[in-house]
Amino acid sequence: MKRILTYGTYDLLHYGHINLLKRAKSLGDYLIVAISTDEFNKNMKNKVCIQTYEERKTILESLRFVDLVIPEENWEQKIEDVKLYKIDTFCMGSDWEGKFDFLKNYCNVVYLPRTEGISTTQRKGRIVQMFDSPNIG
Ligand code: CTP
Repeated sequence: MKRILTYGTYDLLHYGHINLLKRAKSLGDYLIVAISTDEFNKNMKNKVCIQTYEERKTILESLRFVDLVIPEENWEQKIEDVKLYKIDTFCMGSDWEGKFDFLKNYCNVVYLPRTEGISTTQRKGRIVQMFDSPNIG
């Protein structure tokens, strides 16, 4: 049983997220997704989510290629998570290339190419634009 671990916020789930998670799962048999809590997003990442932690967790848990969702509460927990969940491969999108190479002492580290042209930030901007448009009621 090969166990994979990835981290992220996963607000307003989009096809870039789905592409990442599907490919992450294909690296092994059991995929764990650590998602940022609302406090961690607000205090450390300067991000305000549209969906709460519980909402994002429920959505991710319903995906057939996600096996377990755990909270990401701080930047320092990764080594402990890798050990605790007996992780074989840690995986992130290529926007994080090189940032987690310190985990190579504990498991494989893989950066997957990011899907072009989509992000939660872009989606939020698009929604604001639509409501600013005079053609939208
Ligand atoms: N990701 C990806 N392709 C995208 C967007 C995200 O592969 N187009 C990956 C990221 O590299 C990360 C995971 O999905 O490994 C979760 O990313 P997250 O930060 O939650 O999503 P973003 O859409 O990048 O959110 P934001 O705009 O708020 O930064």
